[in-house]
Amino acid sequence: MENIDYTKKVKDHFFNPRNVGEIKDADGVGTVGNPSCGDIMTIYIKVKDEKIEDIKFKTYGCAAAIASTSIATEMVKGKTLEEAEKLTRDDVANELGGLPAIKMHCSNLASDALREAIKNYRKKNKK
Ligand code: FES
Repeated sequence: MENIDYTKKVKDHFFNPRNVGEIKDADGVGTVGNPSCGDIMTIYIKVKDEKIEDIKFKTYGCAAAIASTSIATEMVKGKTLEEAEKLTRDDVANELGGLPAIKMHCSNLASDALREAIKNYRKKNKK
């Protein structure tokens, strides 16, 4: 782990990330990369009645990116798509008890990948 002063919650979500993995029959998939560091992340969602029934992620990234995505998946599970797409990097960082300024860009990945997954779901399910 980088020599950066992370909160206890960041460390907890980095060492024991929640909802890691892949959903084979996902309703929506979103992948984003961070051009500044080359890290990459994919989020998979299962949707039922316009709510996120299940969510999993795979991240090739730094500790802050992994912790951010882990906590973001917990924050949006069970939420409506409309609520979930409002999640911002600040919401994610606040929930983690804060992120060092130089690591704030890492929390973008989580909310961006989530929005991409929702977009992908909507595209596939145009009514
Ligand atoms: Fe790449 Fe954090 S350094 S996402």
